[in-house]
Amino acid sequence: MKISTGLAASLALCCSVAAGPLASGHTQPRGSDGISANTLSVQIHRELGAQLSQSTSIFGANDPAYRNATHRWDTFEAPTVPVIVEVGNESDIAKVVRLSKLTQVTVQPDGKSVWLQGGNRGGPVNAYLWDKGYVVTTGACDCVGLAGAGLGGGHGRLEGLYGMVSDNIRQLNVVLANGTEVRVNATSHPDLFWSMRGAGHNFGIVTSFEMNIYPRGPSTWHYKNYLWTGDKLNQAFTAINALHGNGTTPVNMTYNNGLFLYLPAIDAKKPVISWQFSFRGSESEAAEHFKAFDAIPAVSVESGNLPYPSLAHAQATGLDDPACTSSTLRLITTAGLRVFNLTTEQQIFDSFTKRIAKQPGLATGPFIIHEGYSTEGSKAMKSADSAYPFRDNIHLTQFQGNLPANATKHEQDQMLKWAREVQDLWNAGQPTRRPDAYVNYASGFETVQDWYGHESWRVAKLRRVKAQYDPSNRFRFYNPVN
Ligand SMILES: Cc1cc2nc3c(=O)[nH]c(=O)nc-3n(C[C@H](O)[C@H](O)[C@H](O)COP(=O)(O)OP(=O)(O)OC[C@H]3O[C@@H](n4cnc5c(N)ncnc54)[C@H](O)[C@@H]3O)c2cc1C
Ligand SMILES: *[C@@H]1O[C@H](CO)[C@@H](O)[C@H](O)[C@H]1NC(C)=O
Ligand SMILES: *[C@@H]1O[C@H](CO)[C@@H](O)[C@H](O)[C@H]1NC(C)=O
Ligand SMILES: *[C@@H]1O[C@H](CO)[C@@H](O)[C@H](O)[C@H]1NC(C)=O
Ligand SMILES: *[C@@H]1O[C@H](CO)[C@@H](O)[C@H](O)[C@H]1NC(C)=O
Ligand SMILES: *[C@@H]1O[C@H](CO)[C@@H](O)[C@H](O)[C@H]1NC(C)=O
Ligand SMILES: *[C@@H]1O[C@H](CO)[C@@H](O)[C@H](O)[C@H]1NC(C)=O
Ligand SMILES: *[C@@H]1O[C@H](CO)[C@@H](O)[C@H](O)[C@H]1NC(C)=O
Ligand SMILES: *[C@@H]1O[C@H](CO)[C@@H](O)[C@H](O)[C@H]1NC(C)=O
Repeated sequence: MKISTGLAASLALCCSVAAGPLASGHTQPRGSDGISANTLSVQIHRELGAQLSQSTSIFGANDPAYRNATHRWDTFEAPTVPVIVEVGNESDIAKVVRLSKLTQVTVQPDGKSVWLQGGNRGGPVNAYLWDKGYVVTTGACDCVGLAGAGLGGGHGRLEGLYGMVSDNIRQLNVVLANGTEVRVNATSHPDLFWSMRGAGHNFGIVTSFEMNIYPRGPSTWHYKNYLWTGDKLNQAFTAINALHGNGTTPVNMTYNNGLFLYLPAIDAKKPVISWQFSFRGSESEAAEHFKAFDAIPAVSVESGNLPYPSLAHAQATGLDDPACTSSTLRLITTAGLRVFNLTTEQQIFDSFTKRIAKQPGLATGPFIIHEGYSTEGSKAMKSADSAYPFRDNIHLTQFQGNLPANATKHEQDQMLKWAREVQDLWNAGQPTRRPDAYVNYASGFETVQDWYGHESWRVAKLRRVKAQYDPSNRFRFYNPVN
């Protein structure tokens, strides 16, 4: 297997992956982009070389093996490959294919689209594009990878206007399991294009991709964060259900996110309810939408008006906020919903209260997350046009059970039991719908239909495409279709 990524000359690192054993110890890579050969060599050997096995070699353009390694049948717009890493052991592939340095963002001259390298994350892309007058669909947390989220759909603040991240992907450059690079779009490998927008983690490595961009719109967004005690549960969820009106959410009430969490300083015996809203536009335009929420007596209300890229941090999901940076053991379950069932939410809340009394150590861990989206943009896309299967959902929920890394097996079992219980309650609260588990929130124990859709043709199609493009099932580590 040989992978030679088709990226532009400005990469910090390109990779060539070969399965066979090769001599190690090639050095003297020659850099491009003003990085001196020596600097690049030292850096790659230090950062990467030390982590790889003996059978893997790293070398550059001065090495006799370079010519063969970069040989192409078609030299049209051939990339300059500064460094080759020939992997001699499968276990090294994951270490080499760290895309975090591939963060180039290139707005196209017509101002309608952008090319993004595979390692880009939402926050920095938003900041970069905003300054140029554009927005793009991303996840709501600044740290989320644009490809990582987009390959599974990608929910975010702009989906009500422009659809999901996956809906805005025009084309992708993909390295397939056999090392072939392909351009994937509506006319080139169309079945793969269909599959990669919803189940993409199964099919290849996205080295870069092109997405739609849009004029950035209002210069500030209004955010409002409420903190309520648990006795306001009915009022809060009634107002939320009214706001979303069975899928008629006002398009500029883009996204909201409500949590049950235990804050003993506010209430020692019960969880509290914290709800964050993002409105695209001014405070005065927002006011009518917040009337019902303002009428609920709150512990605190915090609001402000900020340029769009600053919103995530104001709602505790910026690049440097704990939601992004913390590293803990997390037991997660999820369910997609159309409406919040108030009976269910009370059951979930009460079982949390019970655990505060009986298992106080456990109770500080979870965030029980209720997300709501405006859906006009994503509903405008035809469900059958991509592998993303759950366009009827309005809400995405997540039980996020956080434990310290050294938690005991017993603590983990208890948290998992709680996580499953909450997921079961959510699903029992919508008895006429089948359970689903957004693939990017899934934990691995759900069914393949829960991830990729219950219409039987969906999984059948994904498996057909999988057999064609990855017959030996190399990309099988992220909620696999097989
Ligand atoms: C703090 C936090 C907030 C989140 N918020 C949102 C949100 O607002 N909306 C939403 O939709 N999801 C959200 N998610 C879920 C998120 O979509 C998934 O966790 C996703 O897998 C993250 O991708 P990543 O690239 O950031 O992470 P990584 O761990 O780097 O990637 C996850 C997987 O994606 C695949 N992958 C990533 N990049 C590529 C590539 N270039 N080519 C091929 N495969 C690739 C690989 O299989 C990889 O194992 C959130 C997750 C977290 C932890
Ligand atoms: C390059 O490939 C050719 C053809 O397979 C082979 O004969 C040659 O030895 C290779 N050169 C090097 C330096 O590996
Ligand atoms: C490949 O890596 C694995 C795990 O690190 C190791 O056990 C194995 O010996 C390695 N094989 C070779 C050929 O280097
Ligand atoms: C799809 O890719 C093919 C092959 O690279 C290219 O010729 C075509 O223009 C692309 N289509 C779009 C819509 O970009
Ligand atoms: C809600 O919307 C769905 C799908 O759009 C529709 O089938 C259903 O009848 C609606 N329910 C109500 C109560 O309006
Ligand atoms: C949403 O906001 C935009 C930009 O401020 C505005 O033009 C549009 O009328 C708003 N849409 C609705 C439905 O209020
Ligand atoms: C787990 O780690 C924390 C620090 O993160 C420490 O305070 C605690 O004592 C540890 N518990 C066990 C059981 O080791
Ligand atoms: C709400 O949840 C309860 C408890 O699971 C369930 O009995 C009821 O049918 C649900 N209501 C609706 C309207 O689905
Ligand atoms: C790699 O797989 C693709 C997709 O199945 C196929 O078109 C291509 O011919 C394969 N390339 C090689 C070198 O086997």
